Amino acid sequence: MDKAVHNLRITGSKKVPNVRGANEKTVNNVKTVIWSVDKHVNEKDLAAAAECLRKNEVVAFPTETVYGLGANALSDEAVGKIFEAKGRPSDNPLIVHISDEKQLENLVEYVPETAKRLMEAFWPGPLTLIYPRGRAVSDIVTGGLSTVAVRMPNHPTAIALIRQTGLPLAAPSANRSGRPSPTTAEHVKHDLDGRIAGIVDGGGTGVGLESTVVDCSGGIVTILRPGGVTKAELERVIGSVSVDQGLKNHEDQPKSPGMKYTHYAPKAAVTLVDGGRDFLQSLVNSERKKGKNVGVLTTEESSHSYNADVVVTCGRRSDLSTVARGLYAALRKFDEHDVDVIFAETFPAEGVGEAVMNRLEKSAGGRIIRDSN
Ligand code: TXA
Ligand code: MG
Repeated sequence: MDKAVHNLRITGSKKVPNVRGANEKTVNNVKTVIWSVDKHVNEKDLAAAAECLRKNEVVAFPTETVYGLGANALSDEAVGKIFEAKGRPSDNPLIVHISDEKQLENLVEYVPETAKRLMEAFWPGPLTLIYPRGRAVSDIVTGGLSTVAVRMPNHPTAIALIRQTGLPLAAPSANRSGRPSPTTAEHVKHDLDGRIAGIVDGGGTGVGLESTVVDCSGGIVTILRPGGVTKAELERVIGSVSVDQGLKNHEDQPKSPGMKYTHYAPKAAVTLVDGGRDFLQSLVNSERKKGKNVGVLTTEESSHSYNADVVVTCGRRSDLSTVARGLYAALRKFDEHDVDVIFAETFPAEGVGEAVMNRLEKSAGGRIIRDSN
C-alpha cells in the first residue's frame, strides 16, 4: 500500500458533528495516511497514529477479529467523526476498546460477577461485554442506552495503540455502514479512503468475524451477537447462557441495536441456499437463462462443482473457523465482478458456524431458498 506524507486535519468540517443528520459530503476530502507495522510493533511505529487519536481524529487499526475504526471514546467530537465517516445510524452504539482492566473504572458503573469470570477467561479476546454504564461515557457512544459495551482486543498492535494514546478507544468495524467488515487494510482503504485520518496496516486479521457480544448488565446473561467466542465456550465458564430471541425471531427487536440493520452485504443481492449442490446449480441455471450474471459462494471442497459466472470460495467446510476467516473477503470479492445475483451455500449453525450463519443471513437480508425435496 502507498504511504503518504500527511495532513491530519479534517478540512471539511470543524464544527462538532451532528451525528443525527451527518452530512456525508463534509468528510470526503481528507488525506488518509497508511502506516504499515508488523507484529513486533513498537512505540515509534505507532507514534503518528497515536498522536492523531489524541487530537481527536479517527484512525483504523487491526484487531484479532476485524479492523476497527478508532476514536477517543471520551470525546464527543472524536466519536462523532466515526459516525460521519461510516455513515452509521446514531442509535447504533459503539464498543469501547481498552488495554487494561483498570480503564473500566471510568467506563462502567460496576463490574457484575459474571462479567468478572468472563473477562478472566476470555480477555484479551473476541468477547465484548455489556455493563451498566458509567457517568463518564457519553450518549453518543452508547446510543443513549443505559449500558456500555467494552472489549480488550487480543492483538499486539491494537493493545499497543490503546496504551500509547492512553485513551479508551471507541471502535466499530472500519467499513462503510452496511458493507462487510474489513479483514485487511485494503478493505478499509476501499471503504474509507479520504474520509479518515489514517489506517494502521497490520496485515490480515485472525478470527475474521466480529466479537461475541454478551449482555452482563443485569438478569440473565444473554448473547446479543454471536462471534469469535462460541456459546459452548461461554457456558463452560459461567453455565447456561441465553441467546437474544430478536436474533432469530423477526417479530422481536434485537437487543443489540446493530443487529437490526441489513449488514455485511455486497452490491449484488445474496440469497442463501439450503440444499445440495445440484439444487444450487439449478437456481444458477435458471437465473443465467434470464440473462443474469450469477455468482456462487462456496468452500474449497465444492469450488469446482459449480458452473456459474463467478465462483468465490471462503475456507473449508470441514473447518468452519477458516470460513469465518475468509467470509468477508469473499463477499467483497463479488463487487470486483459484475454479478447481478449471488447464491450462497449455508452451514450448520453450531460452534463458530452460528456466527457465520448469522452474518450470512444478514448479508442476504433474510432471503433463503430451501430445497423442499
Ligand atoms: O470484533 C468486534 O467487535 C469489532 C472490532 C473492531 O472490535 N467491532 C465491531 O463493532 O464489530 P460494531 O460497531 O461493528 O458492532 C458493535 C455491535 C453492534 O451490533 C452494536 O449495536 C452492539 O455491538 N452494541 C454496542 N453497544 C451496545 C450496548 N450498550 N448494548 C447492546 N449492544 C451494543
Ligand atoms: Mg460493524
